[in-house]
Amino acid sequence: MTLLPVSAAIRELRETDLPELLQLVRDAESFGPKAVDTERLDIKRDAIPDFGRVFVAEAEKTPVGYISVRRDGDIAVIDGVIVARKHRRRGIGRALVERAVAFARESSMREISVETGADMKEAIEFYMSCGFRISGYEQHSGGSEGQVHLRRGLQAER
Ligand SMILES: CC(C)(COP(=O)(O)OP(=O)(O)OC[C@H]1O[C@@H](n2cnc3c(N)ncnc32)[C@H](O)[C@@H]1OP(=O)(O)O)[C@@H](O)C(=O)NCCC(=O)NCCS
Repeated sequence: MTLLPVSAAIRELRETDLPELLQLVRDAESFGPKAVDTERLDIKRDAIPDFGRVFVAEAEKTPVGYISVRRDGDIAVIDGVIVARKHRRRGIGRALVERAVAFARESSMREISVETGADMKEAIEFYMSCGFRISGYEQHSGGSEGQVHLRRGLQAER
């Protein structure tokens, strides 16, 4: 378990966490209603050891954030990261990313990547502050903002 300076700790997912993690999704202002179903599926899949891992940040025995990450060949893909609003800007999001990076390194992955909405300026700034760089942009038809791809290489860090 990783100890954080904010009295939060990072641990592996427990089966009983799911309702509280989905409540974090509902409370995240930047995610639409469809996100709950998507996140439920991502969490369940990524928690299967052959697929990936889900790490939970806990404060006072309550989940206050999580990250889901999966293997895609030799790339680790972050499917989702959320921190409860009242616990933001205390380093929990960064600590979750670093836990996912540690998992990726342990699994000999060459990079970790993530996609986020092009309109998610704060999420993009967060990932860039965690060492990711923009590697591409995908325009969507139908007038939506499209997706920004970000990546962080891991090999030079070893
Ligand atoms: C993005 C999110 C996970 C960040 O979690 P967090 O615990 O607040 O992040 P941290 O405290 O570790 O922030 C690390 C750095 O990222 C950057 N950052 C974090 N939130 C930011 C924001 N809202 N605006 C600009 N930069 C931000 C800062 O550089 C910050 O360092 P600083 O606080 O010393 O300035 C959180 O805001 C969240 O859950 N948002 C809603 C869900 C979401 O957008 N998820 C990502 C897309 S999948």
